[in-house]
Amino acid sequence: VKGHVTLMGAGPGAADLLTVRAARALAACDLVLYDALVDPEVLALAARAHRFYVGKRRGRHSMDQETIHRLLIRAARRGKRVVRLKCGDPFVFGRGGEEAIALAEAGVPFDVIPGVSSALAGPLDAGIPVTHRGVASGFVVLPGEPSRMWREMLSAGPRNGLTYVILMALARRAEIAAFALAKGFSTELPAAIVLGAHTRNAWTWKGTLARLAGAEIPRDTRDLPGLLVLGDVVAVSERIARTRQEHAEYKEMDREHFLA
Ligand SMILES: C[S@@+](CC[C@H](N)C(=O)[O-])C[C@H]1O[C@@H](n2cnc3c(N)ncnc32)[C@H](O)[C@@H]1O
Repeated sequence: VKGHVTLMGAGPGAADLLTVRAARALAACDLVLYDALVDPEVLALAARAHRFYVGKRRGRHSMDQETIHRLLIRAARRGKRVVRLKCGDPFVFGRGGEEAIALAEAGVPFDVIPGVSSALAGPLDAGIPVTHRGVASGFVVLPGEPSRMWREMLSAGPRNGLTYVILMALARRAEIAAFALAKGFSTELPAAIVLGAHTRNAWTWKGTLARLAGAEIPRDTRDLPGLLVLGDVVAVSERIARTRQEHAEYKEMDREHFLA
C-alpha cells in the first residue's frame, strides 16, 4: 500500500478552530471524504483534492459505513493520500474508531488527528466552563440517542458537582428534563441549549431544568446542530458573559490572516 488515510476532526464550526496539523494534511491530500457540519472554509483548504460528501444527518443516509470503509481502503491502495474529515473530534460520536479498525484490519497505514469537540467547545462558546472550582469537578458527555446512557447517568449520577453535556438531544429535551426531575434533580438546576456553536448563527438559551422543556427555539436556528448542558456551571457563565468582549474585528482579522 503506497497510500495513506488521515482520520481527522474539523472542530466545532469555524475554520480557524482546525488544528495546524489538520490544515497541513488537508493541503497535501488527494481525496477528502467529509461529513455533515464541516465548514466549507475547512474543505477549501484541501485545494488540490477531490472532495466527496459521505455524511448522514437526521437519518438521511447518503452512504453506509461499510461503503465508506471500502472507499477509504480502495483509495489508499491506489496510492492516494486520503483525508477522512469529521466534525468536532473524530473519536467522539463520529464512528472514527470503527474506521480506524477497518483500516488497521486491511493493513492500510493511517493516522488520527484530533479535533476540538463540540462537547467542550459548545459550552465554551456560550461562556460555560464545563468544570469550575467549587461548582463542578467533572463532566460527562452523553448521546441523546440511544437513551440508555443518559437514563442510567441521570438515575444514578450526582445531582450536583457534575456537568452533563448531552449531544444529539435537542428533540428529546422535554423527555430528558422530565426524567431528570423525576429522578430528583432540582427544578432550579441551571440548564442550557447551545446551537451552532462557533458559527455565525450561534444561538443559546439559558434557564432552569423546569423551564427546559418549554424553551422556544427560533425557527431560523432549527437546522443547526445543538447540545444540552445541565449543571450549576451554566450559572457561572452569567458571571463570565457580562464582561466578555467579543472583539469581532480582531477575530475577523485573525481569520483572514490564517486563511490567506
Ligand atoms: C454525530 S455527533 C458528532 C460530534 C463530533 N464528533 C464532536 O466531537 O463534536 C453530532 C452532534 O454534535 C453536536 N454538535 C456538532 N457541532 C456542533 C456545534 N457547532 N454546536 C453545537 N453542537 C454541535 C450536536 O449535538 C450534533 O448533533
